[in-house]
Amino acid sequence: MVCIMRIDNVANIIFSAQIQAPPFTFALLPRSKASFNLGIKAFAPASIGNIGIGFDILGMAIEQPGDEVIARKSKTPGLRITKITGHQGKLPYEVEKNTAGVAALRLLEYIGETEKNLGIELEIHKKMPLGSGLGSSAASAVAAVLAVSELLRLGMSKRELLPFACAGEQVASGSFHADNVAPSLLGGIMLIRDNETLDVHRLHVPRGLYATVVYPHLKILTREARAILKKEVPLDAYVRQSANIAGFIVGCFNGDTGLIGRSLRDEIIEPQRAGLITGFYDVQEAAMAAGALGCSISGAGPSVFALSANSLIAEQAGQNMQRAFAKNGVESQVFLSPVNQEGAVIC
Ligand code: HSE
Repeated sequence: MVCIMRIDNVANIIFSAQIQAPPFTFALLPRSKASFNLGIKAFAPASIGNIGIGFDILGMAIEQPGDEVIARKSKTPGLRITKITGHQGKLPYEVEKNTAGVAALRLLEYIGETEKNLGIELEIHKKMPLGSGLGSSAASAVAAVLAVSELLRLGMSKRELLPFACAGEQVASGSFHADNVAPSLLGGIMLIRDNETLDVHRLHVPRGLYATVVYPHLKILTREARAILKKEVPLDAYVRQSANIAGFIVGCFNGDTGLIGRSLRDEIIEPQRAGLITGFYDVQEAAMAAGALGCSISGAGPSVFALSANSLIAEQAGQNMQRAFAKNGVESQVFLSPVNQEGAVIC
């Protein structure tokens, strides 16, 4: 089922179901003058949403690329975005329209900053392509909440920051799902058992598991790639997909890469989106010819990912995949990475 939630529902979740903490109080601890001016920088990594088979419920973080957000206090009250780099003029500076801005704003509202007394500036440094399927909007939202939380020394855990980052990411994707936000924030391979309550769980990462992500220079907007999906799933496909998701999870916990490979077959979403990616099936075949365990669409695309049992296969898969895109007249960029276990960090 595709879960579409309106932002006011998200607010309800944030304030009721998600965080049932007592009314939040915090004290602004003094910082030196130098750190007051410099602010706090957070890095949040890219992620592979869905991991092919787990539409909206599986995701994994990779080491690079990633976005950076700097939060700094300002004498001017309110939250402002003062600088955005690496976006070719495509991202809005209006806080309410920007994923990082909304994420930070919801966090500030949660701590009682409704009067906008605090002055906070955000600088967003996009280090990965927009609309690429690498979880770019999620990474910016994650980096923003982490930077603001650290700037204000809120003492909140990363898990407590999750709903605010999801609310930010929703601005870009039009849907409240954590398959990019959770791994970008927390690292690892994450199962989101329930997106509404953010019941998220970390899977074991098998030794050697390596990701190849190939970003073709095509553009797909998540919102549009979601709009084309059929709302109904045939029963036999549902049965096979459920078995494959379960197989993938068991394979992760048992370090059974053979089972992971047999399970990495998405027959529900991939066939519906493959046509948006020029040469997709050639690229998939090229990855499998290199010995990859599986290959599918990263998030909503257009990036295509492969998982391999080691870095050498991952590298070969990357070369093959890039060549296959080139044969289809599409330039691409390859990212190779083990699973990022740490997620977003202050840097
Ligand atoms: N699960 C999402 C999708 C990932 O496939 O639409 C992109 O946000």
